[in-house]
Amino acid sequence: MTTKKRNNEDPIAKAAAVIKRGGIVVFPTETVYGLGADAFNEGAVKKIFRIKRRPADNPFIVHIADKKDLKKVVVGVPSAARKLIASFWPGPLTIIFKKRPEVPDIVTAGLDTVAVRLPNHALARALIRAAGAPIAAPSANRSGRPSATEATHAKHDFGSRIGYLLAAEKSRLGVESTIITTLTRPPVILRLGAIDQLTIEKVIGRVTIAAASAIAIAPGMRHRHYAPYIKLIIVGDTPDASLATIPSRIDWYRHCRKKVGVLAVREHCPAYKKADRIIVLGSQKNMTTCAANLFRALRDFDRYDDVDVILAEAFPEIGLGATIMDRLRRASGQ
Ligand code: TXA
Ligand code: MG
Repeated sequence: MTTKKRNNEDPIAKAAAVIKRGGIVVFPTETVYGLGADAFNEGAVKKIFRIKRRPADNPFIVHIADKKDLKKVVVGVPSAARKLIASFWPGPLTIIFKKRPEVPDIVTAGLDTVAVRLPNHALARALIRAAGAPIAAPSANRSGRPSATEATHAKHDFGSRIGYLLAAEKSRLGVESTIITTLTRPPVILRLGAIDQLTIEKVIGRVTIAAASAIAIAPGMRHRHYAPYIKLIIVGDTPDASLATIPSRIDWYRHCRKKVGVLAVREHCPAYKKADRIIVLGSQKNMTTCAANLFRALRDFDRYDDVDVILAEAFPEIGLGATIMDRLRRASGQ
């Protein structure tokens, strides 16, 4: 009786029960919130495609709670992948493997490979363990919208269409995992993310980054992403160029009677005083904070709804700066 009562109150037990009966759960990870279902339940995975309005050619990442569970979903672990697992799991690195036939085709959008990640978040791992199955999950945003870094973002996008929302703190990293395949030589980063290229190269040597034209292997990267409803323009190619150009752009838009928002680092704010709204991502000395605040900033511009155009500063294209620029370009459609 007591046990039953405790289970009824335990959010993990409730969320796991929803997954077990084929439902959809929003859950926290260290990168962004996920929208998860039992990876072996085709009907449940189909539901995610439907409520997220996700194109059917865009596969999901399968989340596991423990390294030993990898063999339930993949065939063979190349030696480079083994090194990456030893260095970065649990953590924000998704690795592509040959898939086991038991993984439903719907999860991988018909590919013979599967993307796997072991999140570094106690609640995420507790949920996967309690559900007794790997969890297939995209980011918990409607397709094309900025990823959800707070439980309220997912609630805003999906409302009552989800079975359970396992709410926690805002996502620690705030950008999605880096995706890499070691099935090619050299290995290829298919999506820039929370772990940068150099950090990976220290472990497995040279890797390349998938060119925008060669992204057929990372289907999701074809689609427009992360877009606020308001038009976003990246001004300049470098932070210095942005600082030099944005003030005159603000004057121009205001002259045209448009309200201007600026997305900037703290140090540059004094130059943008004439903007109607400024959202600060953080200090230019701390790219981790800037990355963590990016998706919330894009959503906040929509929520305030008081600007016609967002002028975004460029970030230096090294380390996490490269990930921020990737997300800004997708948000701008550039
Ligand atoms: O941090 C993250 O990765 C978050 C959290 C929730 O884990 N998840 C996430 O999932 O960002 P999603 O669905 O928004 O992005 C997954 C990306 C898509 O671009 C998809 O095309 C790619 O992973 N992907 C999935 N399976 C793949 C595969 N077999 N080969 C290549 N790319 C794959
Ligand atoms: Mg996503």
